[in-house]
Amino acid sequence: MGVDKTLAYQYLKKTDLSYETLGFREIYIEPTSPYKSYSNAERVKLPEVIFPETPNFFEILMKRRSERKYKKYPITLKELALLCFAIQGITAKAGPYLLRTAPSAGALYPIETYLAINYSEDLSAGIYHLEVRSFSLEKLKEGNFGKILKDLALGQAFFELASVVFIWSALLRRTMSKYGERGLRYIFMDVAHICQNLLLSAVALGLKACPVGAFLDQDFNKLLELDGTEERIIYMATVGK
Ligand SMILES: Cc1cc2nc3c(=O)[nH]c(=O)nc-3n(C[C@H](O)[C@H](O)[C@H](O)COP(=O)(O)O)c2cc1C
Repeated sequence: MGVDKTLAYQYLKKTDLSYETLGFREIYIEPTSPYKSYSNAERVKLPEVIFPETPNFFEILMKRRSERKYKKYPITLKELALLCFAIQGITAKAGPYLLRTAPSAGALYPIETYLAINYSEDLSAGIYHLEVRSFSLEKLKEGNFGKILKDLALGQAFFELASVVFIWSALLRRTMSKYGERGLRYIFMDVAHICQNLLLSAVALGLKACPVGAFLDQDFNKLLELDGTEERIIYMATVGK
């Protein structure tokens, strides 16, 4: 079968920008809040980040590899704070927008970050949500979910030995309310920027990381109690040592 017959190609073709279609709106989608927080959850404030001495940026680029061999390293709160800052730290304000370390189409920030912490020196194992405005972690579930994460990631064994798994969801509405169907393209670009910030920061901190796209989507949505329509898991990365 030719690529042109695939759903993927049809989607790309239908969402190409051209002068003929510019400004044409195929659908109307209500906007929604750019922030999510779990107001009843126990909160752990992330410490203020103090930038450590790191290798030269270009050496970091040279060193980045997808690394999957970890040894249950108890990650520190300082390391977690630096990683969270790298992916979603607020670095400037522009009108109503809180601009972050990673770029986002239209500054709409459709990606939410969850951390499944397996091994930490300072935090109990569990699943947390990163609340970007207060730079804190909201505890959603207690316990080591390593074995479950491994099973839901199609048996990829390194999930169990990772210190933490970063799990990214997308709220389609945030971006699609402005960009319509084309918005989906931007959502995947957004999450890739976030992930690359994490991967490079992990190298900078002497940690190892691996991006992961192979997982059971609906089972991960269920684990995080996401409906899969308004919000769904789209990407993840393991971090360990
Ligand atoms: C979108 C995406 C999905 C990936 N999914 C997985 C995965 O599910 N499991 C895995 O072990 N590696 C995964 N990887 C890592 C790739 O296998 C890796 O980037 C590739 O082999 C090149 O190696 P390098 O990252 O060390 O340069 C993924 C990478 C990307 C960019």
